[in-house]
Amino acid sequence: MRAAVVERYGGPEVVALREVRDPEIHDDELLVRVEATTIGPTDAAARSGRPAFARLYFGLMRPRHAVLGFEFAGVVERVGSSVRRFAPGDRVHGALGPQPGAHAEFVRIAEGGLVAHVPAGWDPVDAVAIVDGFLTAIPFLRDGGRVRRGDRVLVNGASGAVGSAAVQFAKHLGAEVVGVCGPAHLDLVRSLGADRVVDYTREDIVTTGERYDVVFDAVGTRSFRECRRVLTADGIYLSTVPSLPVLLRTRRARSTDSGQRAANLFTGLHPLAEKAADLALVGELAAAEAIRPVVDRVLALDDVVEAHRIVDGGHKGGNLVIAIPAVE
Ligand SMILES: NC(=O)c1ccc[n+]([C@@H]2O[C@H](COP(=O)([O-])OP(=O)(O)OC[C@H]3O[C@@H](n4cnc5c(N)ncnc54)[C@H](OP(=O)(O)O)[C@@H]3O)[C@@H](O)[C@H]2O)c1
Repeated sequence: MRAAVVERYGGPEVVALREVRDPEIHDDELLVRVEATTIGPTDAAARSGRPAFARLYFGLMRPRHAVLGFEFAGVVERVGSSVRRFAPGDRVHGALGPQPGAHAEFVRIAEGGLVAHVPAGWDPVDAVAIVDGFLTAIPFLRDGGRVRRGDRVLVNGASGAVGSAAVQFAKHLGAEVVGVCGPAHLDLVRSLGADRVVDYTREDIVTTGERYDVVFDAVGTRSFRECRRVLTADGIYLSTVPSLPVLLRTRRARSTDSGQRAANLFTGLHPLAEKAADLALVGELAAAEAIRPVVDRVLALDDVVEAHRIVDGGHKGGNLVIAIPAVE
């Protein structure tokens, strides 16, 4: 099969399209022909080896995983002998982990892994674009922020894959949402339901004097220290990007319910059962049109180097999708 392969750390140009062996499936696994996958900051970190601590996971000297890509949507090609819930021809979506591999024509995943039937009527691009942002935003806002109806929620980086999902999910929970993004994405964030959008090139959100119950920094550009000024007395700062001061407080945040708090979550490491339940919730909310996927653009697997460049730029709007047509 064709796959985007990374054999050494570096810029987007280290990614090369190669023929590699098709995955072999075990009795409890499915082989999925990938029709669409996403590419985002986690792939960029696994390719570049930056930030340096990412190498603890992705490989100290060279990438541990040659084929990147965590999310997939596609068609079940073959199933192992003990698989019951899926059959060849089923349309599925989900996420691999801890090992990536979706920037390829085929992936294998255990029946008990993070894989579900695609909601009826969805094309592969939408089916893959709904996965990562929501599986991140939902635990952050529901479990970390315990967002309730009427809460005021600030989403920084509201235009990204995670932020665009966070704006929608916070609105679904009944919050009043302010989204911070760049000038090119103000209309996008407004269209997702944000009550107010703030262009970070024109207004500094931490100096407005407004207060929020939850500050969700989906892009990691504002520190807890800065955000304390806009948090309510019992407000919580949550960030997708780990920092030492917040990591040290994360344990405290879980053990106390008063005072300003801060937490980093690593949603990819949450128990599989929780992630599977959230993927089912995503399907339900999408079917009810309470949430929608946000797609920046769709590129071909041949354009994977360009896709890495766009991700490195840090300004994609929602999800960057790589479509992989079937080989006749
Ligand atoms: N902890 C976890 O479990 C977890 C899970 C998933 C992802 N992540 C991390 O979460 C981060 C975001 O991921 P993503 O996929 O959403 O990235 P993304 O799609 O690249 O989104 C980042 C967004 O932030 C906006 N932005 C850039 N500079 C900004 C600034 N100074 N202020 C406000 N917004 C700014 C960008 O667009 P504009 O500026 O052009 O509007 C872009 O839309 C990454 O670091 C990723 O590694 C963590």
